[in-house]
Amino acid sequence: MIIDIHSHFYPDSIFDMETRFGSGSWPGFRKVSAEKGMITLDGKDYRPIYDACWNPARRIEELDKYGVDIQIMCATPILFAYEKPAKESLECAKLMNDEALKMCEHNPRRLKTMCQVPLQDIDLACKEVGRAMESGHVAVQIGNHVGDKNLDDEGLITFLQHCASIDAPVLIHPWDMMSPERMPNYMLQWLVAMPAETQLSILSLILSGAFERLPKSLKLCFAHGGGSFAYLMGRVDNAWRERDIVRKDCPNLPSSYVNRFFVDSAVFSNDALDLLVKCSGSERVMFGTDYPFPLGEIDMGALVRHHPSLKDDEKASILGANAARFFNIEI
Ligand code: CO
Repeated sequence: MIIDIHSHFYPDSIFDMETRFGSGSWPGFRKVSAEKGMITLDGKDYRPIYDACWNPARRIEELDKYGVDIQIMCATPILFAYEKPAKESLECAKLMNDEALKMCEHNPRRLKTMCQVPLQDIDLACKEVGRAMESGHVAVQIGNHVGDKNLDDEGLITFLQHCASIDAPVLIHPWDMMSPERMPNYMLQWLVAMPAETQLSILSLILSGAFERLPKSLKLCFAHGGGSFAYLMGRVDNAWRERDIVRKDCPNLPSSYVNRFFVDSAVFSNDALDLLVKCSGSERVMFGTDYPFPLGEIDMGALVRHHPSLKDDEKASILGANAARFFNIEI
């Protein structure tokens, strides 16, 4: 059973948020042809996409082509709208969440979805994750920060505690990347800032002592293999040993918290996946592609399937068994 836990959708019926709310710069969409479209932001082209983003039949065709049984979709992060008024962000979340469920109706056994929430308002976010889970979502995807608030913010910890209390798994996806003014070219925001954003989020939870307050039942997963965390774990442990300002709120060695979160396998290199499995354990890595975007794994599943040193049982865990347990999917 192969389960891809990291994929995105973007409806071509994208609701015209600008007109709906009469304010702000909301992402838009321009249909280029029946099969191609362009996400727009601030009136400029942002990202070319194709019909797998909105057409569930196309998605199933491609899952068949690559032998993927189940795919879990989530929102494209530019639609999180945490910087917008919370009421507008809630309305956007409800529209997107209901639209995602409609796409899954095409093949409910193979297409699953995670909801989005207006994370700038914790009460509204808790209500919407509850509504969405009851209506059929299997998890919630959140951005890794809300403006200047990292994951150790009191409100965000309250939200994570709420998710644990209703058994809603949480995928944390980097977004709204740091220092865009220094990274205007070459997709550096995706190549440099995204892995750093995820590292910042994981360390915010570990070094603030948040994991000491969050229940062990909380199911957390970080996208893109946890960003730069695995590679830099030794550096963080060394800093914790040597400097009291690093360990002041964190009672245990940082690396001892790796058993508190999962990561996806979207790292695009045999050596990186090897390190990730050594760091997190094969029981906490889940197959994720970032499909259908150009920076995703185009040959879905090839990295794990053809890995030269992972054992067959480890591959089976990563490709599907871990996700089935994490997302409560009956297989
Ligand atoms: Co993604």
